[in-house]
Amino acid sequence: MNSIDSLLHESRRFPPSPEFVANAVATPALAAAAASDRLGFWGDQARELLHWHQPFTEVLDWSNPPFAKWFADGRLNVAYNCLDRHVLAGNGDRVALHWEGEPGDSRSLTYAELTAEVKKAANALAALGVVRGDRIALYLPVVPEAVIAMLAIARLGAIHSVVFGGFSADSLRARIDDAQAKLVITADGGWRKGKVFPLKATVDAAVEGTTVEHVLVVRRGENDVEWTEGRDLWWHEAVGTADAEHEAEAFESENPLFILYTSGTTGKPKGILHSSGGYLTQVAYTHKNVFDLHPETDVYWCTADVGWITGHSYVVYGPLANGATQVLYEGTPDTPHPGRWWELIEKYKVSIFYTAPTAIRSFMKLGREIPDAFDLSSIRVLGSVGEPINPEAWIWYREVIGGGHAPIVDTWWQTETGAIMVSPLPGITSLKPGSAQTPIPGIELAVVNDDGSPVEKGSGGLLVITQPWPSMARGIWGDNDRFIETYWEKFADAPGGPLYFAGDGARLDEDGDLWLLGRVDDVMNVSGHRLSTAEIESALVSHPIVAESAVVGAHDETTGQAVVAFVILRAEHAADHTPEQASAVLRGHVATSIGAIARPREIFIVAELPKTRSGKIMRRLLQDVAEGRAIGDTTTLADTSVMQIISDRMDAAG
Ligand code: PRX
Repeated sequence: MNSIDSLLHESRRFPPSPEFVANAVATPALAAAAASDRLGFWGDQARELLHWHQPFTEVLDWSNPPFAKWFADGRLNVAYNCLDRHVLAGNGDRVALHWEGEPGDSRSLTYAELTAEVKKAANALAALGVVRGDRIALYLPVVPEAVIAMLAIARLGAIHSVVFGGFSADSLRARIDDAQAKLVITADGGWRKGKVFPLKATVDAAVEGTTVEHVLVVRRGENDVEWTEGRDLWWHEAVGTADAEHEAEAFESENPLFILYTSGTTGKPKGILHSSGGYLTQVAYTHKNVFDLHPETDVYWCTADVGWITGHSYVVYGPLANGATQVLYEGTPDTPHPGRWWELIEKYKVSIFYTAPTAIRSFMKLGREIPDAFDLSSIRVLGSVGEPINPEAWIWYREVIGGGHAPIVDTWWQTETGAIMVSPLPGITSLKPGSAQTPIPGIELAVVNDDGSPVEKGSGGLLVITQPWPSMARGIWGDNDRFIETYWEKFADAPGGPLYFAGDGARLDEDGDLWLLGRVDDVMNVSGHRLSTAEIESALVSHPIVAESAVVGAHDETTGQAVVAFVILRAEHAADHTPEQASAVLRGHVATSIGAIARPREIFIVAELPKTRSGKIMRRLLQDVAEGRAIGDTTTLADTSVMQIISDRMDAAG
């Protein structure tokens, strides 16, 4: 994370080059149009960027905040917008996906081919009884079938819930149950770090006793799988034999498109719900303007897994709605060699590259010789997402990957916002390393004090969004009270309507530019992935040897934050395990309960946890311990000896 000191001393500026400005997609006229008539502007974007089977007459219905309706009486089909219309416009031969498997196999699909595949998949799903509104869980590696499945589901007006392939069977089951999914689409396995990791076996463990009627299995890893006759079907059989003709039906703009689960401040993940017309408008608009997309000539690559919101908005829906050509890569950046990503940029002549600061920092550590060995001269725009990018990483990214000239767009947004909200525009903004800078045209936000009043320039506060936006979440699946409570209650009575509370701290500099400072709640950001302290704590206490636990996000040079847990063992088990053994068992237990991404970097076995007199765990103190800082004021502690005990234990553990 950025330290405030390094931010305050960062004064370098990088204006766009005249050559870039001359061909830039976003011009000052865009910002002027949004400023003069915000809703009219969004209406124009929706009409220009999308095909509406039935045009809308009203842009926004905000009569029931915080539940927005955008373009409500319009009708469209999301998949038609991402596929058929490009083919009908004569761009069927343009490559949509250059897919590269980790072992080096590859497959390119043109828009015509991708359209045909999606039509077949839609017919196959319809034959399995999938109809509008049904929920379908996806648990897949990054293979073309993941994109095909998402679009086929969208084409039928059904709702996908993509679960990242690194989540455990328990996590998958919880998501299947919450959404009452009737079908799971998975693969036998996928490639990661030179090996096949099984997926089907996890699905088998997750679906028993759930609402799932069928499991559709893509053959990818060629690993052995168990088969349940009548329930399990091979994708290549069901989809391979399906008809390639399928007419897209138009659904209303607010038809739900997907649920995506994300971590919150409590143990239970939230099913963030997104709908069709507004979402597609804002992802297409931002993808085009923030990345300066010229779809005829650019090759775009976003390294996110489709299991995260970045993969939904900037691998699937944004780029395909815009008719872009993109790279899709299955594996890890360092397999089979540490230059794999740069090799792919050279191979496909990638011109727009979008990744996370954690990746950039790990490449920085490895040294510039690795990227320097490849021809990266095709790069003209770089993007960053997921966490604040520290100025040092920003400069390295621009110099080493961007040839010293590529603008970097530092994009701030969330699963809940659906699309980019804050970002420089590469042909307009004079860039400041480390700052996400400005709301994109059409978005209104503020940094406020705890009472909702805007802070002065030069001060910090809480980031809020002050006006509804097209791709905003439409609720939490099955729990709209929680939606209101989490995001809208804190500033419910603001003049002019409720403010959306993002959960991020931010600072406005003297120019009014935004610097994101990280989460202000108990949500951690590990390698750009959101993890909840409460969810990991509840996984820890579910283990029989654990009496109590507290989890904090500690600063980590590469991953931004890392999970550090403090655990009190049950008295009857404490003697059976050395701290090292207990810590190893529990790290494994968290990985099995939630997924490997949640595995704590360290677990400290302690005798007590520091609590306030009212019994609240003092996480800030634990964070100090985890980050190796001197312990601050402990006068509010119920028992001031606790921290001493904790640090003694840690010393003993080495
Ligand atoms: O804390 C912010 C951080 O990531 C959170 C959203 O996480 P998620 O919903 O998983 O979506 C990640 C990808 C959009 C935010 O609340 N975050 C995201 N982008 C940035 C960021 N923090 C600082 N700068 C960013 N560019």
